[in-house]
Amino acid sequence: MSRTVIRGGLVITAADEVHADVLIEAGRVVALAAHDSEFTAGWSASADRVIDAAGKYVIPGGVDAHTHMELPFGGTFASDTFETGSRAAAWGGTTTIIDFAVQSVGHSLREGLDTWHAKADAQCAIDYGFHMILADVNEDSLKEMDVLVEEGVTSFKLFMAYPGVFYSDDGKILRAMQRGAANGGLIMMHAENGIAIDVLVEQALAAGRTAPRYHGEVRHALLEAEATHRAIKLAQVAGSPLYVVHVSAEEALAELATARDKGLNVFGETCPQYLFLSTDNLAEPDFEGSKYVCSTPLRPKEHQAALWRGLRTNDLQVVSTDHCPFCFSGQKELGRGDFSKIPNGLPGVENRMDLLHQAVVDGHISRRRWIEIAAATPARMFGLYPRKGTIAPGADADIVIYDPHAEQVISAETHHMNVDYSAYEGKRITGQVETVLSRGEPVIDGKTFVGRAGHGQYTPRGTCQYLI
Ligand code: URP
Ligand code: ZN
Ligand code: ZN
Repeated sequence: MSRTVIRGGLVITAADEVHADVLIEAGRVVALAAHDSEFTAGWSASADRVIDAAGKYVIPGGVDAHTHMELPFGGTFASDTFETGSRAAAWGGTTTIIDFAVQSVGHSLREGLDTWHAKADAQCAIDYGFHMILADVNEDSLKEMDVLVEEGVTSFKLFMAYPGVFYSDDGKILRAMQRGAANGGLIMMHAENGIAIDVLVEQALAAGRTAPRYHGEVRHALLEAEATHRAIKLAQVAGSPLYVVHVSAEEALAELATARDKGLNVFGETCPQYLFLSTDNLAEPDFEGSKYVCSTPLRPKEHQAALWRGLRTNDLQVVSTDHCPFCFSGQKELGRGDFSKIPNGLPGVENRMDLLHQAVVDGHISRRRWIEIAAATPARMFGLYPRKGTIAPGADADIVIYDPHAEQVISAETHHMNVDYSAYEGKRITGQVETVLSRGEPVIDGKTFVGRAGHGQYTPRGTCQYLI
């Protein structure tokens, strides 16, 4: 049985910051104890590997609860495979991803899930789980939800957007929520009024407004707020909890805050792109704005303060990436002359932990809140805690040694995601991942990738552990 000791670092979890040594045996954390006591000196003497973390943070690996490897969208596929995307995640200090398996219309949940297992099997450098996208709510798929929950696929994404693709009407949404209320499945909602948006898309294109920035204008903040409000009311009627994905508009956040003030089990996730980027990026000339096309869309800068406040007040609980990369060349370019044909999504799985550390440096959030929104709460929300998301006896040794003083500049030249641009090109970050362990095994060692495709295991999940 292999033994690793991490010595001399500051162990940061959502709950505590303690100077402690960490003992790992057979891939799990077995103990934390005061640094350089006689007791921990004994650990080091008998260890196979001792990692010196003096002056560094020792943090739980990030849990990114929203990725789309190889997602089919707009006639093309997201450019990261499970192999390239999970490796890039590890480079950025994320040790678990939860990706979205897709049910296609006319097909079963089982077929969709099997397809996603086949894509990910033996490919991942880090552990992974699945949510299920419900694109076709009917008697059979509702029954299948029960089976999937039993198997560890315990969350289901529904879309109020993308009519004709993933869209569900209110009746279907209500039925899925009722089923989730009964079987413990958590309903995740893409909350945008897609029917109204499609009218605005048609009108914009007819008027010659074809550039990427119109993607943001037609996907009006009020149509995110309206859908968020409607989703909350439907969840209330169904008696089900609700998790709203990729919240970007202040008005939508206000709907979540109102619901939470009433004591409802309503949760919200935002993403780094909404915290750090804005409609200014969407308006970049020469079609560069297409690099920032995602849904919900980037908002005017003024929304950012509300999102940061929401993260501090816990009206937003999770920051995930919604990693869904499309290359500029040949993919984003599909929408030249028609913004509605630009595949929706941004790369970011590698950047989340660093960007959120920068938010610590900038004073938006505390160090413990960094770990809470990026690791502990996503693990609790999606039934992985305390195996993932913390450093405690019994937890998987998914651990990052993070250098809080290193300086780096984000760039497509140096990133590891399989995409030809960075949404954060040139951004200076204080802090950098140094070493990453996944179940005790080094994946990144002193800024070198030493992991392998297939180390990452499929991880069935329990039901939501975050309910009031
Ligand atoms: O633009 C996005 N978010 N693309 C991925 C699909 C989704 O709606 O999450
Ligand atoms: Zn979505
Ligand atoms: Zn998504």
